[in-house]
Amino acid sequence: MLERLQKLIAEAGIAARRKAEQLIEAGAVTVNGVVVTELGTKADPETDHIRVDGRPINPLLRDREKIYVLLNKPRGYLSATRDPLNRPLAIDLLPKNIQKKVHTVGRLDFNTEGLLILTNDGALTDAVTRAGFVEKTYHAKVKGHPSDEQIERLRRGITIDRRRLAPADIRQLDLTDHDNVWYEVRLTQGRNQQVRKMFDATGHSVVKLRRVRIGAIDDSGLKVGVFRVLTPAEVRALMTGKPSPKTPAARVGAGQNRERPRPGGRGKKDSTAAPKQRGTEAKSGSGASPRPRGKSGGSAGRKSATTNRQGSPATRSGGRPLKPGGARRPVTRKTR
Ligand code: URA
Repeated sequence: MLERLQKLIAEAGIAARRKAEQLIEAGAVTVNGVVVTELGTKADPETDHIRVDGRPINPLLRDREKIYVLLNKPRGYLSATRDPLNRPLAIDLLPKNIQKKVHTVGRLDFNTEGLLILTNDGALTDAVTRAGFVEKTYHAKVKGHPSDEQIERLRRGITIDRRRLAPADIRQLDLTDHDNVWYEVRLTQGRNQQVRKMFDATGHSVVKLRRVRIGAIDDSGLKVGVFRVLTPAEVRALMTGKPSPKTPAARVGAGQNRERPRPGGRGKKDSTAAPKQRGTEAKSGSGASPRPRGKSGGSAGRKSATTNRQGSPATRSGGRPLKPGGARRPVTRKTR
């Protein structure tokens, strides 16, 4: 079947679609030995011989098994496939046999914790990172108390790095101490360090940041440093840009998952030190801290477990946490 070259290159796991287009325009792609630079050119991987930088991609398209992993990234890990400074990488938390096969879908800052998808499927990467398609939800602990007007400005969309941001959905969560406020921030675009820069613009910097939801997939039961395989239903939901549940905050029960004060740690800034323990795969029934759910809540298809590359079942709750104790989620205080 004839398909666009950029789609085939993405499906072969060489690069996401936009990068594949750049490769085509740069003359790195040949079809049956002829350089193709025109975007939109189609080829049939059954009959045409396609090379990227001299490397044939037909075998990759034939043999490829798609890998979709959801990791709860700890602070102190980089979401990149390599680092000249040799800092810990998020992929280090995955089994060795898939580390080299996957790339991160978008980025989370070194000091941001939370959900990160890793895959070898360029089409999924494109869908999740496309502006306006899949909403990402963050919980941000902010220094001091921004005024209502300041938050309203952030909601409408401020200008950062000379570019206007799309409107953001922001609601205040429960206060954890007198010095800081927690907010839930929902974004449909992913500019570099967007949440941090938004609050920096108010003069109230983010001291802790966590991504708690990507589209309809949330972090319930997935402890920090732990990964699981996405279910086929979850992958489908991401590909189709299925919207997030609209009232997620109501699903967080009062008194649950409140951030615990640490010794001497009230309002303390993020540590930049890498966590000491490594990630584990989520194990069924291993007692991850539960998060109350409403009837409509939950990840798409979460219950229908699939299998990972080793053939073991991918299940929902977490293995060992990186930090003992300390349930980590603030409680919703008021919604708008
Ligand atoms: N916004 C940020 O500021 N940092 C992240 O890691 C993600 C979103």
